[in-house]
Amino acid sequence: MQIQNNISLKPYNTFGIDVLAKYFVSVSNIKELKDTLSTKDYPNKLILGGGSNMLLTKNQDKLVIHVNLKGIEIISEDEDFVFVKANAGENWHQFVLWCMNKDFGGIENLSLIPGNVGTAPIQNIGAYGVELKDSFVSCEALSIETLETHTFLKSDCNFGYRDSIFKQQEKGKYIITSVTFKFTKNNHKLNVNYGTITSELESMGITNPTIQDISKAVISIRESKLPNPKEIGNSGSFFKNPVVSKNEFETILQNFPDAPSYSVSENEVKIPAGWLIEKTGFKGKRFGDYGVHKNQALVLVNYGNAKGSDILNLSKLIQKTVLRLFNVSIEAEVNIL
Ligand code: EPU
Repeated sequence: MQIQNNISLKPYNTFGIDVLAKYFVSVSNIKELKDTLSTKDYPNKLILGGGSNMLLTKNQDKLVIHVNLKGIEIISEDEDFVFVKANAGENWHQFVLWCMNKDFGGIENLSLIPGNVGTAPIQNIGAYGVELKDSFVSCEALSIETLETHTFLKSDCNFGYRDSIFKQQEKGKYIITSVTFKFTKNNHKLNVNYGTITSELESMGITNPTIQDISKAVISIRESKLPNPKEIGNSGSFFKNPVVSKNEFETILQNFPDAPSYSVSENEVKIPAGWLIEKTGFKGKRFGDYGVHKNQALVLVNYGNAKGSDILNLSKLIQKTVLRLFNVSIEAEVNIL
């Protein structure tokens, strides 16, 4: 375990923001992680996974711990199902591809989501009609305070839309070290109802899709709409889609009869924040090295050397404008640090 000084975090966050970590350590096994956590010299710590859901707005004085635990293991299996444990530092998309290769079904719709396995449960990653919670069995997490390992079952995690116990009561208290999933080995449950998947499969000429076809369709949709963080820095959706009451939505419809929505309960609907932002005129706008992506207004981008604080200010301006135009608050999905 070697603590380094003044390390640029640019390669460690998908927004590509260049700030310094005063102290930085990358840990590749549990012992190193425990040793790092038990050092009394650095009382404040920042845990870094894939760096795909954060906006760094300043140099970090805390000890930044890069969780680099690797390994994927089949725990048990029968004719129909397989239980797979993946360590936190595995890249999420590489893990999806590993499953596709083995014909394990469950997370094909979650192809190409940036980030690591260990951070996926924190915000219950989701896309194209599927969420992580649908295949999640449990995760192991190390208590930052006691260094004890705790197993969280699915029922413990309070998964919701981009939400879990790790963003609420247990925020900042644990480091997820591995996640166990249950996948199908045959009779895969295909989720093709999300509109764009159906049309993508059609354009691929596929009528009886396999999970691998779905993965390819999702990759193709994401590549066409979402910027690749390796080319243009970004953190996926910057905002969550807001949930409003049906009454509030009726008011919006009076002025914007084409407003899209998805029903979430008897009295509530979710409005795509991308649509709200597009209506404000921010979509595709570029201000120097930062701006709003041209194909998906939910995504804020860094074209090169943007400062985190510039992107934060832009996000606040967008929030204010959406509030003024629609009387709807949109909340950031990424962590501002
Ligand atoms: N829309 C616009 N303009 C835009 C973007 C979207 O009008 O610039 C409207 C369109 O009506 C479109 C609808 O929004 O039909 C939905 O768009 P999309 O299918 O792209 O989904 P989204 O609601 O904008 C969510 C997730 C994405 C996820 C997709 C697909 C959130 C905050 N975002 O976006 O997740 O990939 O659905 O399931 O829930 C992420 O979290 O980083 C992420 C990319």
